[in-house]
Amino acid sequence: KYEKGYFMPPNISYDWVKKDSVEKAPIWCSVDLRDGNQALIEPMSLEEKLEFFKLLVHIGFKQIEVGFPAASETEYEFVRALIERNMIPDDVTIQVLTQAREHIIKKTFEALEGAKSAVVHVYNSVSVAQREQVFKKSKKEVKEIAIKGAKMLKKLAKETEGNFQFEYSPESFPGAEVDYALEVCNAVLDIWKPTNNQKAIINIPTTVENAMPHVFAGQVEYMHKNLKYRENVILSLHPHNDRGCGISDAEFGLLAGADRLEGTLFGNGERTGNLDIITVAMNMFSHGVDPELDFSNLPEIAQVYERLTRMHVYERQPYSGELVFTAFSGSHQDAIAKGMACHEAQADDKWNVPYLPIDPKDIGRAYDSDVIRFNSQSGKGGVGYILKNSYGIVMPDKMKEEVSYLAKSVSDKEHKELTPQWIYEIFTDEYVDV
Ligand code: KIV
Ligand code: ZN
Repeated sequence: KYEKGYFMPPNISYDWVKKDSVEKAPIWCSVDLRDGNQALIEPMSLEEKLEFFKLLVHIGFKQIEVGFPAASETEYEFVRALIERNMIPDDVTIQVLTQAREHIIKKTFEALEGAKSAVVHVYNSVSVAQREQVFKKSKKEVKEIAIKGAKMLKKLAKETEGNFQFEYSPESFPGAEVDYALEVCNAVLDIWKPTNNQKAIINIPTTVENAMPHVFAGQVEYMHKNLKYRENVILSLHPHNDRGCGISDAEFGLLAGADRLEGTLFGNGERTGNLDIITVAMNMFSHGVDPELDFSNLPEIAQVYERLTRMHVYERQPYSGELVFTAFSGSHQDAIAKGMACHEAQADDKWNVPYLPIDPKDIGRAYDSDVIRFNSQSGKGGVGYILKNSYGIVMPDKMKEEVSYLAKSVSDKEHKELTPQWIYEIFTDEYVDV
């Protein structure tokens, strides 16, 4: 019933696999307010989108896809509100999505009236399945849709005041012959004729992710090497996460030649979501590369996100989840407590604490409440750490052991996590076991 649905281009070198890290931040584009929003059970209201926009600006996004203005009244009004209320900082460019259809492109430019600048993002589907089943059109006819759309964008941009950059996405790229997708992108570029001053964006989506990350990155390598006007084209990726590999697609794709990433906070988006930008950015950060986005207060960002989207950040979501820095088990607690003591004693700031991939403080997490928590799996390292951190009590090893046995047995019996205060009461004998 199932078979591999992807197409491999010829002559992939895979040389980029030998690189071991992404060395500089890509151009980031948040699609929270479009792809993220369109996948919500209850899409955000206009005021909620405005608050989310401010959050994205605060984090440092310079490109923000704010919606699909021809798709609904709220989407249209949101773009108008951003422009009319003068809410777009000078160094931020909004991006709007449109299908490659004349009346939709017209409505999109109407929404943009008065904008100083914007990226107009046009797409059409190029996959075999969509060509045959949805549009019932030949390859040539589907390419013609893209060309017409590209021409329309160029014409309307000339007639509308403002500085417009163009983006084209061959939607459903993973289900298309890669040489055909390239042919369509190059046809679009032949219309736009990008220059050094007016670069175009070609955005490769894994609309439905269908291959292993190195396969996708092989396709990216092919696009990177064969796109026309390459020096004047920004090669962008838009990974989704159907196989759970959105992060790897993005990182391998950057190694293979991409310049830009589209994604969302916490990976919100259609089905299994879009690329989680926070994870890619923090992966760079943890290798000493400045991601140029500010996640120093991630818990607050998560709170705002949860309130506005009515989604929940998974407890084990990399970097962001409530439990990702927490150790309950005794041996992990012991190693962390020792590692933290060494870290505090050392002269430089180099981070090498066991079990903690980064310093939780760097993203606004607190050691006391986040790192070492105590239950029946925990041990003397945990008790020692908690009583020292919360109450300034320093115990000899033997005493730590005794208190930990007492605390573990209470946790086991009650089947509960113990708070620092509870552990303190056990330590001072104030806790009465009834
Ligand atoms: O996932 C996708 O293909 C998209 C396009 C509109 C870029 O969101
Ligand atoms: Zn998408």
